[in-house]
Amino acid sequence: QHPQSPPSPILEKLRSITLIEIKARGKFGAVWKASDKNEIVAVKIMPIQEKQSWLTEQEIYKLPLMNHDSILKFIAAEKHGDNLNTEFWLITAFHELGSLHDFLKSNTVSWEELCYIAYTLARGLTHLHEEIPSEKMECYKPAVAHRDFKSSNVLLKNDLTACIADFGLALIFKPSRSCGDMHGQVGTRRYMAPEILEGAINFSRDSFLRIDMYACGLVLWELVSRCSCQQGSVPDYKLPFEEEVGLHPSLEDIQDVVVHKKMRPVIKNSWKQHPGLAVLCDTIEDLWDHDAEARLSASCVMERTSFQSMSTVS
Ligand code: ADE
Repeated sequence: QHPQSPPSPILEKLRSITLIEIKARGKFGAVWKASDKNEIVAVKIMPIQEKQSWLTEQEIYKLPLMNHDSILKFIAAEKHGDNLNTEFWLITAFHELGSLHDFLKSNTVSWEELCYIAYTLARGLTHLHEEIPSEKMECYKPAVAHRDFKSSNVLLKNDLTACIADFGLALIFKPSRSCGDMHGQVGTRRYMAPEILEGAINFSRDSFLRIDMYACGLVLWELVSRCSCQQGSVPDYKLPFEEEVGLHPSLEDIQDVVVHKKMRPVIKNSWKQHPGLAVLCDTIEDLWDHDAEARLSASCVMERTSFQSMSTVS
């Protein structure tokens, strides 16, 4: 075969993956560390009920310009077995540090690490949310809303670059067509914006992007809560609202706290003593504003967390 031609279906079948160990489990299935010839990869194995997530996720990864430092690198999608034994595989880059959620449970972060993680996270969301026009349809990148943004869906590379993963609920906004399935209340309860909990969202592109930004505020709060630059000892890792509603809240528990009481995770006074953290805390409060239209965009968060901006306040 000529080296320039695309792999034939026969050659593609020769990918032979050895599963090594389970790294994460959830209702979506399981993520394995695996080897593909000499390369270590991650394999997400999804049960038959998750077929739609598998289809959506690969559609997102295959969009133009999705090759980005802060978006998980997609390798392949495969269907294994048949009939009742069908499994849906998604093969991606593997990152040893795992998710930001797992990392924060067992590690604290310095001010510099916090800045870098926050900036690369905002850079990934900016890219995902951005519509990039092109004359050629093959290069046009539509805006995409994640719709399940949370610290367990952000992975950390070895150099602490954050990369966004898990696009099974994502929504593509193409100007020429409607937004497909348009039910609003999807995602993880704990990270749901007040307008979703109230069932009061209009189905516009911007309203979905603002819902991601609310969740981004919660994730940045998780980062700040584990930063070693705060005064006093660093508290143990807690999920957003874990203090308020515990580990297994009902939808009513979350609605009560987020919508009726308009509570948010506690920002400690001591955090505001550090000039850099104080600015980041203001950003977080702008992100989880009850008024969706008052929230910052991802590109604005990227600007506010850029090296230039952070180094003038710390
Ligand atoms: N957990 C979920 N996805 C992962 C990946 N791609 N690499 C490492 N851990 C993961």
